[in-house]
Amino acid sequence: MLSGKHILIGVSGGIAAYKCPELVRRLKQQGADVRVIMTDAAKTFITPLSLQAVSGNPVSNSLLDPNAEAAMGHIELAKWADFILLAPATADLIARLAIGMANDLLTAICLATSAPIAIAPAMNQQMYRAQSTQHNLHRLSSYNWLIWGPDYGEQACGDVGPGRMMSPEELSNKLVNYFSYPGDLEGVNLLLTAGPTVEAIDPVRFISNHSSGKMGFAIAQVAASRGASVTLISGPVNLPTPEKVRRINVTTALEMHDTVMQYADKVDIFVACAAVSDYRVANIADEKLKKHDKHMTIELIRNPDIVADVAAMSTYRPFVVGFAAETQNVKEYALEKLNKKNLDMICANDVSQPGRGFNSDMNALNLFWRSGELTLALSDKFSLSQTLLDKIIECYNEKNRR
Ligand code: PMT
Repeated sequence: MLSGKHILIGVSGGIAAYKCPELVRRLKQQGADVRVIMTDAAKTFITPLSLQAVSGNPVSNSLLDPNAEAAMGHIELAKWADFILLAPATADLIARLAIGMANDLLTAICLATSAPIAIAPAMNQQMYRAQSTQHNLHRLSSYNWLIWGPDYGEQACGDVGPGRMMSPEELSNKLVNYFSYPGDLEGVNLLLTAGPTVEAIDPVRFISNHSSGKMGFAIAQVAASRGASVTLISGPVNLPTPEKVRRINVTTALEMHDTVMQYADKVDIFVACAAVSDYRVANIADEKLKKHDKHMTIELIRNPDIVADVAAMSTYRPFVVGFAAETQNVKEYALEKLNKKNLDMICANDVSQPGRGFNSDMNALNLFWRSGELTLALSDKFSLSQTLLDKIIECYNEKNRR
């Protein structure tokens, strides 16, 4: 989603600098070309070599280094950047920027650039609350600089309050949202399921699957960033809620079914990306089951088919998109599901292939709808979601025109 974008990260001297390699890694994963500038103080918290290794570019730090200036000088760097993110931004850096100082490479570049600049403040809570810091932030904000964070919580010094740098994940989401498509999905109401469902056997055991939620969450994030109003019904996963997405957590297939049915008649499009347990345990044991015999039988009963029930709605029915996780005969089985469940579209993934599908950052999809099909090549789940949403909207609009 940041493909081809030149992102300049300015790192100043705070303990949160240790989060920068992860931030750079995430931005690179989204396709950005990342360069890093460090202040002298930043180098006491993290080495330039680590950031050079993750960014794949030399790290700049000195305004007075003739070799660096001969390669990509501060004016070139200022022009190269499509966006400058200062993370972590200490109280000192913020103060220097607020009065327009240019006494090191980072502040000089911020003066010399016409690119948008975002600040991710990171400092002790009292320093953050200090009138001068607030005044400086206010001043930068009045110059249209973006202020991202800080988060509230426990700090390295033991204090609790505002001043923690936003997580690399949140910062990279913010950048993605900044650059994502204009609001072409504004007015579209999207309901999504994601992740696995979990069916208890006894108080300590359960039946589930390897779904991480990444595919569904990526679709939700991309759709919200394009202006859609998104409700995400998620099984138990370890992912943060994408910005501007309404998330409802559920555990079992029955809970997911009931929640989906509450919302399905209020949305335009329903995308069933969750890996729902087809069966649940008939009698969940109240106490932990003990092992006695060599063999044990657990009786399972069928769960309702959520996507099929939405597709069968009579008075109002949204546009319904299902997923199909297959390990063989992908097209045949996907088409069978498209027809049997009466879907408008099905997105088939071949989950027998390593490095895609379940619990991976990457995926490839074969889309089938009533009058066509399309292959979406292997790529990260965010880029894939952009193309997938383009196709879903195209088919949705076509169906509504008929
Ligand atoms: O979460 P990730 O780790 O990112 O992995 C993504 C994924 C592989 C889980 C995802 O891309 C995917 O394929 N999801 C659907 C997996 C699945 O359960 O497929 P299925 O062939 O068993 O089900 C077909 C469709 O029916 C799906 O849309 C499913 O959500 C739906 N279904 C299934 C059973 C049920 N009781 N209710 C349902 O709604």
